Amino acid sequence: MNTVLGNILKRFQTEGVSSALRLMGARIGSLLRSAIEDRRRGVSTARELKDRALGITDLSNHWYVATDYQTFRRAMKHVDIRPGEDVFVDIGAGMGRMVLLAAELPFRKVLGVEFSRQLTDIGRENLRAALPGLACKDVELILADATQWPVPHDATVLFLFNPFDGEVLAKVCANIRQSLAEAPRKLTIVYVRSEKFFEKEIAWQEWLLRTHEIPCVEGRVAIYESKLLPGAVRNGRPGRAAKPEPAEIL
Ligand SMILES: C[S@@+](CC[C@H](N)C(=O)[O-])C[C@H]1O[C@@H](n2cnc3c(N)ncnc32)[C@H](O)[C@@H]1O
Repeated sequence: MNTVLGNILKRFQTEGVSSALRLMGARIGSLLRSAIEDRRRGVSTARELKDRALGITDLSNHWYVATDYQTFRRAMKHVDIRPGEDVFVDIGAGMGRMVLLAAELPFRKVLGVEFSRQLTDIGRENLRAALPGLACKDVELILADATQWPVPHDATVLFLFNPFDGEVLAKVCANIRQSLAEAPRKLTIVYVRSEKFFEKEIAWQEWLLRTHEIPCVEGRVAIYESKLLPGAVRNGRPGRAAKPEPAEIL
């Protein structure tokens, strides 16, 4: 809550009162949505934790904040899901909100990877409560450090809400890239709040192309598609790189 107030104050100082009020309205909307949508599913994805630091000592790994329900929906409008085929992975899944939302869509499989036991336990509780209402029943929350977790060859849509930066992000990007090299395929990455770290990390790697940018309450969502790695063949034919589309303006 302090961070939210701090951000509003900062906005007031840098951009003036109307911009600060807009941000405040967006935050209130997000809190209301969180309460209503959680209640509708019988889950709790924004609860206060006793150990707020989650035992994180390496600050390259970021703390838990759930993505706004609306942000996920807006972002997923730009992702072409192949029903019964695509596999969604939330890297840094927290209490599982994105995993539950993805499992309401026609994915073949939905996974979440989270390195905090406390959060994974809550996420699994949420999953048990929501399971009857999910379209996809093959859903799993995996307790693992993303740096040590090999990205499965069938993963086709990756979701990240600013889970880490620095060396940790570099290692996870290398894992994603290795998975693509071993199993060339169309891969979409939905990255919330990409402005600081992810862009820097992939800029020199040049293996992803940004296809969309959407403003959201967290800042912005960027959607990337994998370019085909040299020599790789997709579906028996050489693939083509994704074409960028103009940024969407709210
Ligand atoms: C900002 S939260 C996003 C939560 C969820 N993806 C969402 O959008 O609602 C980032 C999450 O990443 C987790 N995380 C941070 N470093 C990690 C790592 N190395 N491996 C796995 N999870 C990690 C944190 O514990 C936290 O739950």
